[in-house]
Amino acid sequence: MLEEIKKHIAEVATFTATSKEEIETFRIKYLGQKGLLKTFFAEFKNVPNEQKKEFGQVVNELKTTAEAKVNSLKEALESSEESKGIYGDLSRPGEVLELGSSHPITLVKNKIIEIFSRIGFNVSEGPEIEDDWHNFTALNLPEYHPARDMQDTFFIQTNPDVLLRTHTSSVQVRYMENNKPPIRTISPGRVYRNEAISARSHCFFHQVEGLYVDKGVSFADLKQTLQYFTTEMFGKSKIRLRPSYFPFTEPSAEVDVYWGLETETDYKMTKGTGWLEIMGCGMVDPNVLENCGIDSEVYSGFAFGMGIDRIALLLNQIPDIRMFSENDIRFLEQFKSSL
Ligand code: PHE
Repeated sequence: MLEEIKKHIAEVATFTATSKEEIETFRIKYLGQKGLLKTFFAEFKNVPNEQKKEFGQVVNELKTTAEAKVNSLKEALESSEESKGIYGDLSRPGEVLELGSSHPITLVKNKIIEIFSRIGFNVSEGPEIEDDWHNFTALNLPEYHPARDMQDTFFIQTNPDVLLRTHTSSVQVRYMENNKPPIRTISPGRVYRNEAISARSHCFFHQVEGLYVDKGVSFADLKQTLQYFTTEMFGKSKIRLRPSYFPFTEPSAEVDVYWGLETETDYKMTKGTGWLEIMGCGMVDPNVLENCGIDSEVYSGFAFGMGIDRIALLLNQIPDIRMFSENDIRFLEQFKSSL
C-alpha cells in the first residue's frame, strides 16, 4: 500500500494539463468526494499501529502535492487566458479589411462629370418622377407628337400627366426655367423606358445629358466640345457626326467615335466598322428655348445626351447590362481599381 501511494505522489508531481476539464478530472480523481485520498484515509484504521505514523505522513504528502498541483495548474491556465485579453491571441496574423468599391456606372459617371467640369460645366439634377411638360411638351414634343413613341414611357396609371422620365433632358428644361444664360450644365441620372429586358437593354438605365446656352453658340462649338470629350474619355479624337432627328434639337446628329480595328475586340465592338455610336446631339431647337423663357433671337445653344450603361459595358467588356443591377458581389468587386 505504501509503495502504491508513493507511486501516486510521483505521478501527481509530473502531471500537466492545458484545459480546465483536464484539471477538474485530475482534482476529482485525487481530492473528490470519492477520490483516492478519501480511500487511503479510510484505510488508516486497518494499518498496523507501528506503520500508522509513516502511512499518515505519506498520505498527507500525497494530499498536499495534489492540492498544490491543482492550484498551480489553475493559475497557469488563468494567466495564459488573461494575456490574450479582449483582443485574443496577439500573435495571430491580422485580418484583411475588405474595402468596398464604387459601382461601374458610378465610376463612368464620375469620369464624365470630371471631364466636363474642367471646361466649366456644372452638375444639375432633377426628379425621376416627372410631369408631361418637362419630359415632353417643353422639349417640342406636344401631345400626339409621333416622336413621343421613340421612347416607350412608363406612366403613373392614375394620372397621365405623371410619368417616369424617359431622358434627363427634363432636367435641362428645369435648369433653363430657373437659370439665365450663360448656361453650361450636365445632368446625370437614371431614366426609365418600357422596354423588354435583355442582355442589351433594360427598363431603366443612366444618362448624362449636356446643355450649353449663350450668345453665338454654334455647331462648331458643339463639335469641338464633343471631340474634347472623346479624347479625354476614350483617348480617341476622331469623331463623325451623322444627321439624325430629335424633336428638341435642330439640326440633330448622332456621334460616332473612331475606335479603330486593331484588336479582335475592336472588331467585335464596332461590328467590323471601327466606328462606335456614343451619343445624340444637336442645336437646341428655338422652340425649346422659348418654352423655357429664353429669347431664341438672342441666345442659341447645343445639347447632347449619352447612355452611361452602354459606355460602362463597352469600356469593361461586360456582356450583359443586367449585371449592373443584380448586386452580385463577385461582379462588383472587380471594379476596385478601375478608372
Ligand atoms: N434625350 C435624347 C435621348 O434620350 C438624347 C439627346 C439629348 C439628343 C440631347 C440630343 C440632344 O435619346
